[in-house]
Amino acid sequence: MAAYKDLSREELLELRESLEKKFEEEKAKGLKLDMSRGKPSAAQLNLSMGMMDVLTSESQLMCSEGVDCRNYGVLDGITEAKQLLADMMEVPKDNIIIFGNSSLNVMYDTVARSMTHGVLGSTPWCKLDKVKFLCPVPGYDRHFAITEYFGIEMVNVPMTPDGPDMDIVEKLVSEDESIKGIWCVPKYSNPQGITYSDETVHRFACLKPAAKDFRIYWDNAYGIHHLYEDKQDYLIEILMECKKAGNPDMVYKFSSTSKISFPGSGIAAIAASDANLAEIRNQMKIQTIGHDKVNQLRHARFFKDIHGMVEHMKKHADIMRPKFDTVLEVLERELGGLEIGSWIAPRGGYFISFDAMEGCAKAIVAKAKEAGLVMTNAGATFPYGKDPKDSNIRIAPSYPTPEELAIATDIFVLSVKLVSIDKLLGNL
Ligand SMILES: Cc1ncc(COP(=O)(O)O)c(C=O)c1O
Repeated sequence: MAAYKDLSREELLELRESLEKKFEEEKAKGLKLDMSRGKPSAAQLNLSMGMMDVLTSESQLMCSEGVDCRNYGVLDGITEAKQLLADMMEVPKDNIIIFGNSSLNVMYDTVARSMTHGVLGSTPWCKLDKVKFLCPVPGYDRHFAITEYFGIEMVNVPMTPDGPDMDIVEKLVSEDESIKGIWCVPKYSNPQGITYSDETVHRFACLKPAAKDFRIYWDNAYGIHHLYEDKQDYLIEILMECKKAGNPDMVYKFSSTSKISFPGSGIAAIAASDANLAEIRNQMKIQTIGHDKVNQLRHARFFKDIHGMVEHMKKHADIMRPKFDTVLEVLERELGGLEIGSWIAPRGGYFISFDAMEGCAKAIVAKAKEAGLVMTNAGATFPYGKDPKDSNIRIAPSYPTPEELAIATDIFVLSVKLVSIDKLLGNL
């Protein structure tokens, strides 16, 4: 099929008529599917049900510190959990703090602490006239929501196939003292599935920020979430890279087991330099007497070690891979060559990022909704929910069953085609 832009008005009108018919048929199937968030499917959650059995009323609940996990004690995580998450995050065990059930919560606290108390002795951000964060786009809406909530001005930085555009990052960070942070999802990024190249990570580690309290918010949420055994991305470990570059304090690494065990009931961690961790512990000891050690123990006993976790992730991949392949196959078959959209085939993570023709994303998401398919709001992948080109749509294939996903993808491509035709006809 020829590119839509090369079709005559009559051809477009004819095509629209036949596509509308197909769309009505899909609509009649009465699908009701919420594909708006990157949630694991029930089949994936079932993989971790063994975790419910590793602790029973008969279990011995001492952790290796000799502390009873049922009681108070051990502020920053039991050794077993620290070792597991340190290996997962590729950092030394002593450079990690274990938190509660959500890494997003840790990110929020990190921004909140910087606002009220500053970073390693610098002026609290709330006392400054302006605080800015760089936001690689498209990116993760909940990151942007945190900085928006605190009144931090967000500055878009375009993503490239190698990560954020580092020429722009270097320039802005070195010239503007009000830039205090950058949000990064460095591996299998949300939503594009891009992994930062070696050069990008190296350039991050060598940044020369104008603000001494500038921090890289390195949210490695998808560090071990590969889809394929034979095609895997590799990411340089940034904490060591920053140390080597003489910038040991410049990065906070975040991660959690949310999409490894149970989202909302996993364990989260931060990895950082000794100085940063000391500051975090200072706040933490006021905030809590300690997080849920029973859950930490449960995770440590269930996975045993990083090898157990890696094996577990292969089972997730076996469930996720066919779903990604289905979406990618339908996109290629139905939209390939039409020049009305582009996408990246990721090797891991939770999303496929789709770029429609400019000015079409909102209308496509609305069209899909008419047929019962709820997608992530267009614009959500940009700060303030504003995609300047109204082009990016995040596809989250994990939650639906394969059968639902096949129908959902058909609805999606039909919506893309119909809206694109309207755009070309000048109706949008
Ligand atoms: C990039 C990224 N970071 C963090 C999270 C949430 O993590 P948690 O459940 O640990 O708060 C998600 C969930 O979608 C995510 O995509």
